[in-house]
This record gives sequence, structure tokens and C-alpha cells, in this order.
Amino acid sequence: MEAKRLTEYADCAGCASKLGPAELDAVMAGLPFAHHDDRVLVDFRTADDAGVYRWSDDSALVQTVDFFTPMVDDPWVFGQVAAANALSDVYAMGGVPRTALAIAALPKDGPAPEVVREIFRGGSDKLREAGVALLGGHTVTDPEVKFGYSVTGHVHPDRVWKNSGARIGDVLVLTKPLGTGIIVRATKFGRSTESQLSSALESMLGLNSTAAEVARNAEPGQIGACTDVTGFGLAGHATEIALASGHTLEFTVDALPVLPGALDLAIQNLPCGGRSNQRHYDRLKVEPGVRHELFLLCCDPQTSGGLLFTIAPEAVDGFIAAQRAAGVPATRVGEVVPRSADGGLVRLR
Ligand code: CO
Ligand code: CO
Repeated sequence: MEAKRLTEYADCAGCASKLGPAELDAVMAGLPFAHHDDRVLVDFRTADDAGVYRWSDDSALVQTVDFFTPMVDDPWVFGQVAAANALSDVYAMGGVPRTALAIAALPKDGPAPEVVREIFRGGSDKLREAGVALLGGHTVTDPEVKFGYSVTGHVHPDRVWKNSGARIGDVLVLTKPLGTGIIVRATKFGRSTESQLSSALESMLGLNSTAAEVARNAEPGQIGACTDVTGFGLAGHATEIALASGHTLEFTVDALPVLPGALDLAIQNLPCGGRSNQRHYDRLKVEPGVRHELFLLCCDPQTSGGLLFTIAPEAVDGFIAAQRAAGVPATRVGEVVPRSADGGLVRLR
């Protein structure tokens, strides 16, 4: 019998059968908070990338967990992408990741042990590249393959990049091109080219460590907010910053960096997460003249996407120059504006 491809162990490539933003809100609404503790600096209530807990006056823990189904058939690549994606939430809080715990869900009837081993090897290779120690992990039986990590890092309590930190006039800067979800989905249906897939993979495999390190070296006050662009897409994660900060994020869609082929493929098919994201975006305002494929790109769920920063306007040129000098293709994509009368949280123009 021929072995199944890794992506055949998943109902939906790159998903962990997750609740969409709307379902998650409904499930969480009204639940009592477990315990009040003044040392909790950031928790789930602001939909930040990771929680932050002040450990001492000059050190806070950053904790997050992320795991999902295979979006590629190569197990070594899948393991690396899962690790890069999980680490990203710590970088997005301004933190430095230090330790990780692996989480794996594996079907009873496969994949073969040597394939599972390659997934773990890919993850470990990426953790090593990031300077993160693997402490342990947990595996369960599940009809779908799922893999990822819980990651712990540290940050100075005064230098946490919270979603609530965006200020009117801040410039929006994105550090990776968009379109990984569109390309992965197209690949499943045999519609992407080899070079389109390899650009998407290269982007997903890239750690956000350099972009974060350059930003940590910025003067205090220059960085407003930061998030990584993942499953809820650019519009979804921008919505989280808009809600937490009380402002509106306005994107100039023609300035958005795009993976080669993603706009053409966007018209042909859409990842399921993109559709559940679109349903949630009733406060996403799209100005007339914005091309439909660019709207789809803004809703596209990203795997291991880039960091979205809001930067003080006087600092943005230096910030982008420093990112580019370090090899990060940072791009200016919009600005933070006052909340408009129509209640729009994110505006595409
Ligand atoms: Co995140
Ligand atoms: Co996350």
C-alpha cells in the first residue's frame, strides 16, 4: 500500500480545526477570570500574541502555544514551519524566546515513525537556529496530524509591545509578504507552480528573530504596537490592534508586499480560514476601487507570517532602513488614524 502524503492526514492544510474569531468570542464571552494577579501584564482579553507575567521588576515571562495540521508534505519542512510559527508570538510581544515544549497529535494508523521523526527533527533544527532549548513535550492520538510548541521567553516589563500601544499617526510596517495561505491551498489542488510554492516556503521558514531584534534596538517609544500576522490574516490581526488601542488601522493595499503568484491564485480558490475570517470582518471597511484579490489577500490566513509594527512617524524611515540593512524586507503599508464615525476598525484603501 502506498503511504499517505502528510497533508492527507489533515482535513484542512495548516489549520488546527480552530475556532474562527467569532466562534472564539462567543465561547469565551462572560467566563469568569480565573484569578486576579497584579503581576499579569497581558492576558487573553486584549487578544495579544502571548501572555506576559511580571516575574521581577526587570523581567517578565512571555508564554504562548501554537500547533496546527501539515500545510506541506515534507515532514522536515513542516516541523520547521511549526516551530518558526510558534516562536513568532514571543517575538511579537518584544520578547526573546528561551524554552519550548513540543505538542504532537498523531493518528493510530500512521504516518510512519521515520516521518514523525523528521517532523520533530525539523522543529528541533528551527529551535536551535533561534537559540531555544527544548525541555519536553506531550503527544496524543488524534485522527489528524498536528504539531507545534508552547514557547516561553522573557521581556523587560516596560518594553512589552502590546496591541493597545498603537497611537494615532503611527506608520504601519509589515516585515514579510502576504499570501502563504492562498499558495498552500492552491498547491493542494495542484494549481501553484514549484517556484510559487518555494517562495511561500522560504517565507514561512524564516524566523521573525531578526526583525524583532532590530525593533528591540529602537529607541524607547518608537514602537507602538506589534503583532505577528497568522491565522486571522492581516485584517484580523490589525482588528485586534485597532480594538485594543481604540483607533483604526488604514492600509494602502497597493503598498502591500505579496508573494509571487498569490494574487492570481487568490481569485481561483480560498483557504477555509479565509472565509471564516471574512465573516468576522463586519468592521472591515473597503473603499471603492480596492481590487477584490487584494481584499482576499488581507483576509488570507498566514502561516508563520511577518510582524506588523506601528511606528512613530519620525522614526519610520530609520526603522525601515535598519530592517533592510539586516536583510528584512520591511515595507510601509499604512497608518493609524482616529476611529471613524462608521465604526470601521480596519480600512482598506
Ligand atoms: Co500572534
Ligand atoms: Co498565536
